[in-house]
Amino acid sequence: MSTTKEKQQVVNIVEENGVQDEAEFEAAFTPIQKLEGCGIQALDIKKLQEYGFHTIEAIAYTPRKALEKIKGISENKAEKIINAAMKLVPMGFSTATEYHLKRSEIVLITTGSKDLDALLKGGIETGSITELFGEFRTGKSQLCHMLSVTCQLPFDMGGAEGKCLFIDTEGTFRPERFVAIAQRYKVNENSCLDNIAYARAYNSDHQTQLLVDASSMMSQSRYALMIVDSATALYRTDYNGRSELAARQMHLARFLRMLQRLADEFGIAVVITNQVVANVDASAMFSADNKKPIGGHILAHASTTRLYLKKGKGENRVCRIYDSPNLPEGDATFSIHHDGIRDSIDNS
Ligand SMILES: Nc1ncnc2c1ncn2[C@@H]1O[C@H](COP(=O)(O)OP(=O)(O)O)[C@@H](O)[C@H]1O
Ligand SMILES: [Mg+2]
Repeated sequence: MSTTKEKQQVVNIVEENGVQDEAEFEAAFTPIQKLEGCGIQALDIKKLQEYGFHTIEAIAYTPRKALEKIKGISENKAEKIINAAMKLVPMGFSTATEYHLKRSEIVLITTGSKDLDALLKGGIETGSITELFGEFRTGKSQLCHMLSVTCQLPFDMGGAEGKCLFIDTEGTFRPERFVAIAQRYKVNENSCLDNIAYARAYNSDHQTQLLVDASSMMSQSRYALMIVDSATALYRTDYNGRSELAARQMHLARFLRMLQRLADEFGIAVVITNQVVANVDASAMFSADNKKPIGGHILAHASTTRLYLKKGKGENRVCRIYDSPNLPEGDATFSIHHDGIRDSIDNS
């Protein structure tokens, strides 16, 4: 039992229908219902929602031919819908000053390690895709678990004041890990676990379908982070050999586009993992030597920031910036503990 005093020490994290939560939540995007005021019929809006479009931004960022594929949406209708959406979402040129201002609003989510945060100039960036790649047991899933909690923290503690969506494809999701991490940050364990929506994906089609559900959930509540651990594992099992390579690439590209759309639309951080396999398998797509990321060009182009994780001295792990539009190359060492990621342990 906790006393009142102890209760006061508990850090407030996002809670369902919290007042502050809802107010800020509204500002992040424009709900699709607003199209009704622009001459689009309610029935058509419903059709768009069924296909995973829940915001005006989603429509505006989508190529017209994607809308035309929806049953009951003709070419004319698609054009009308897109035009209406584009009037509501600013999409033209803006000055670098304005863009700089917009980028300064990007929230960075703490990793739990000061050194790693410093390397990342604050943490994992919202509004874009970060890929964690590395061999087995290098801490990719541990970092995902860590961020699932820290994304919920108040801004002044390195959080993004939002919930987390976690897609697990390898069966390595461990909710019990969250308890110790929550205690470390003095957040309520139950609220913390309630704020993490989890789904196990069983194949690459299912994994993609879950993103449609995700966008619906994100339009109803404030989310800060979407995790796919791992983004590529099911593609390895669903597609075999060279003959299926093109189909696999296309499917993966579509999946990644949908993730990017979620990042753009809802301003969330997207974190995906990708396991490096040492041996050379049938196709070039997922094989690489230990120093190269896998997933082919498609993944390379989709991920904004690519972080390479490897084992360091003793129990330490090393994170290297492999590719980033704004971070210089560099390394940081961190360690994995029962209560999450921390700075490196001194082995000297
Ligand atoms: N409760 C824990 N306390 C300390 N270290 C842990 C704990 N659970 C896992 N680890 C460490 O995390 C490593 C696995 O990292 P993980 O993120 O699962 O790897 P992967 O990169 O394959 O996803 C293990 O080698 C272990 O050292
Ligand atoms: Mg893992």
